[in-house]
Amino acid sequence: MELHIRLTGRGDLTTQIYRQLREAVLDARLRPGERLPPTRELAERLGVARNTVATAYDRLTSEGFLVGRVGSGTYVGDRRLIGEARPRTAPVGRGVRPRPVWDSVPEVPRAGTLRYDFRVGAPDPALFPLEVWRRLVTRQLRAATVRCPANTEPAGHPGLRAALARHLGVSRSVRAGTGDVLVTQGAQQALDLVGRVLIEPGDRVAVEEPGYPPARRLFQTHGARVSGVPVDAEGLVVAALPADSRLIYVTPSHQFPLGVPMSLARRTALLDWAERHGAVVVEDDYDSEYRFAGRPLEPLQSLDRRGRVIYVGSFSKTLLPMLRVGFLVSPASLRPALRTARQLSDWHGDLTTQGALAEFIDEGLLARHIRRTSREYAARHRRILAALATHLGERLHPVPSAAGLHLAARLAPGSTDDLCAVAARARETGVAVESLASYCGERPGQAGLVIGYGGIALADIDEGIHRLAAAFGPEP
Ligand SMILES: Cc1ncc(COP(=O)(O)O)c(C=O)c1O
Repeated sequence: MELHIRLTGRGDLTTQIYRQLREAVLDARLRPGERLPPTRELAERLGVARNTVATAYDRLTSEGFLVGRVGSGTYVGDRRLIGEARPRTAPVGRGVRPRPVWDSVPEVPRAGTLRYDFRVGAPDPALFPLEVWRRLVTRQLRAATVRCPANTEPAGHPGLRAALARHLGVSRSVRAGTGDVLVTQGAQQALDLVGRVLIEPGDRVAVEEPGYPPARRLFQTHGARVSGVPVDAEGLVVAALPADSRLIYVTPSHQFPLGVPMSLARRTALLDWAERHGAVVVEDDYDSEYRFAGRPLEPLQSLDRRGRVIYVGSFSKTLLPMLRVGFLVSPASLRPALRTARQLSDWHGDLTTQGALAEFIDEGLLARHIRRTSREYAARHRRILAALATHLGERLHPVPSAAGLHLAARLAPGSTDDLCAVAARARETGVAVESLASYCGERPGQAGLVIGYGGIALADIDEGIHRLAAAFGPEP
């Protein structure tokens, strides 16, 4: 790309060229290793003497911004010597600022990869069926998707909606036809659409405590007053719901992050509560495909006979979060509003990915992939429990659960271990683990760890937990 240099006619031309090239390197508009035009060519383009450009190049070269390669030309220097790229834009003008609610939304922490990575979130990318996926995406790109821009239904790719309705009916007994399914960019967009359509500023939204921070924060940005409701061994404590809750967000299959399933009694109680109080229940079934023991309980959606439940799902755990595919199934009368919200938000998402996923499901490849990866995650789950019992049996008590890609473990009663300090010491030895407290809103007192196994190889688990135990220090 040709770099634009503006000469004003005022001041020394060499300095003007020098300054603008320097800015371009600092801003990373010119990237390390990029070749600059030869001095003669740039001089001609700018209508200046060749020497004017050559002097500017020499100065930049002596300062490390450029490097000359004999017989080959002049290139942008090494980024490490130049430093980090600076932001290119000026701060926003006076009187313009984000809505105050955005100041209360913390950034999602992201750390580099560590060898013993027990963080919660993504599945193992090494298990993703890359070759099959490449074939399916290529087929989509060759076929109708790119040549048929008329297919812009906001509810998503019709083939995927049909495949999902069948898949959910068979694997989760969710009651849905093709027309009931709305494909979204991950579960997060499904929650966003629900917020747009159902939350008035000031409405009460109840979430689990501890719970899923991105949901809590999202509802806050829609102007909701969000209240955390405690979770016990049977799931959300329905009796503790604030009476004015308009929307209740729950993860009944595998409570996030504790891992307990919601009991049938609680499910029924929650549906009754929602009916009595005129509330909507958002059921986030984010990782129910992975179940290592027992039969899954019926989703709230299939127990509900009174139009109280919006069912949300995601492929971020079974496939990859970066694909950004999720979906929702709502009561029929909410569909037009949700569909319009989807259209106004991003029209219909990426139809190539959606089409590929439709074939992945229809060809039975999703079911096969889940069977295969389930075995691997079950083995990791067992190995973590065994290693915790061996190395930390007296200090951490796992919360019983047999599903998903993570488990939680509470600090033994009476323990004085500081888990933030433990996590920090563990990090120094290559172990990444999260504290339960980071999943709490207004009641931060929960002491424990959340241990994910999407990012750690089976063979590394023993050593990782061993190192974690060392970070606790000697038993008191
Ligand atoms: C509780 C919960 N819901 C949903 C998701 C998936 O979200 P998304 O589909 O937006 O990636 C996750 C993933 O980490 C999760 O933990």
